[in-house]
Order: sequence, then C-alpha cells, then structure tokens
Amino acid sequence: MEVIIPNEPSQIPVLVADAICALVERKPDATLGIATGSTPLAIYDELARRHDAGELSLARAKAFMLDEYVGLPAEHPERYRNVIDTAFTSRLDIDPANVHGPDGLADDLAEACADYERRIVEAGGVDLQILGIGTDGHIAFNEPGSSLASRTRIKTLTSQTRIDNARFFGGDIEAVPRHCLTQGLGTIMDARHVVLVALGKGKSEAVHNLTEGPVSALWPATILQHHPHASVLLDPGAASRLQLSDYYREAYESKPAWQGL
Ligand code: PGA
Repeated sequence: MEVIIPNEPSQIPVLVADAICALVERKPDATLGIATGSTPLAIYDELARRHDAGELSLARAKAFMLDEYVGLPAEHPERYRNVIDTAFTSRLDIDPANVHGPDGLADDLAEACADYERRIVEAGGVDLQILGIGTDGHIAFNEPGSSLASRTRIKTLTSQTRIDNARFFGGDIEAVPRHCLTQGLGTIMDARHVVLVALGKGKSEAVHNLTEGPVSALWPATILQHHPHASVLLDPGAASRLQLSDYYREAYESKPAWQGL
C-alpha cells in the first residue's frame, strides 16, 4: 500500500486523473471502477476538464459503479445511477450503455447482484477502482462486520452511514434508505489497481486503521493491506493520526517521477 500525502492537497485529483489518463492511453478500452460520495467529485471535475481540453477520451472505456441504494425511485436525484450520470457520464464521451451499476430496483435483488458480478467478469475486470472511505471504515457500502471475501450483495447501512449521508437528503436521516446493493470486499480486491482518496479530519481514524491497524472486518477497508497495488491519497486532515506520516512524505518526495501511482 502506498500512502501519498501531497504538500498541496489540490494535487490529489490531478494525480488520480494522471493515472486514469495513463491507463486509457495504454488501454483505450479500459474498465474504470467509479465511486459516489463527495470525495471523488474533484476527480470527475478534473477528468471533465481534460476531456473538454481534448486530452482525454473515454469513448471505448467501460465503467462499473460500486453500489446503489435499494428502492430509491428511478428519477430520485440521489439514486447513485443519477448521481453518476450528472457527475461523470454526461460530462465525458463514455458511452452511457457502458456505464454499469447494480440494479437497486430489481424485483430479484439476489439475481441482480449475481448478474452484476457476471457483467464485471465479462468486461474483463476492473483496471482502476476509485474509492472513498466512510468514517466507519467502509469502502463501497461494506459496513463493519462485512466478510473480507464478500461479493456483490444486499447490505443494511449502519446508522452512522445514514447520519453521514443525510446531508444529501436534506438532513433527513429517515429519508436515507436502509438497504443498498454493494460490490463486496472480494469484488473490490479483484480490481487491478485501487486508488483510495480520503479528505478531512473526520476520516483520520478510519485512515489510521486502514493503513496502520490490523486487518479486521471491524474496519473493512483494512482488507486493502492485502492488495498488491493500492494507492492511498490523503490530505493533511485525513493523515493527521498516522504514525508513519513522516516516512510516507519522505518516500513520496524521493519517488522516481516515471513511477506514477
Ligand atoms: P464521502 O463518502 O466521499 O462523501 O465522504 C465516502 C464513503 O462513504 O465511502
């Protein structure tokens, strides 16, 4: 796991966009794993800027979302499919038919999850997965206690996550759905490169556990310690509880420029 704490936090979306551009350059039909929440928005802004400047084309790329609320009406603005349409798909030249998400409105949710796993495999697997992290250590919606080998399935959101996400629902916790479909930790671990971004002091405990704690279902993101290519990009707030932050900064400063993320 590589922990990067850039001197200038505004570099974080630039570094992630650089990695995506390099991937698409060597593999134009790459498969991206895309996340919702507020953290990835600056990355999508940077991708859209590069697309508008003629520097990036996702015309042949595919994308898979991490998760979706169960039961939110198709037109609901917070349905993750709609959030991704607004923040990502509509601003890039990716074919909307190539942007996939778990179907939280399916009659048979278990089959929708199995179908989602099949579709990821048929697409050749995820090349680069963008991730945020919850204050409770979740990645996607794999809440504490999730099996470290889990696949896409239905989960019940913790009250902490519903409190955290109420800001997207006018502050009304009861409006936040209780259930979601989410890629499992095993699904995420199959991505070839995972790029996790965490911003702000509120994430510092989760980040400390992610990078320096024991691997445990209590902090689901810790499974990434077993990933062969995980990049963790942090601002000073999110990095504020790290024991080894001086070492991470030193290693990053002396990193060869050709290496990328
Ligand atoms: P956030 O959510 O980016 O809105 O902080 C991250 C997450 O819950 O995974």
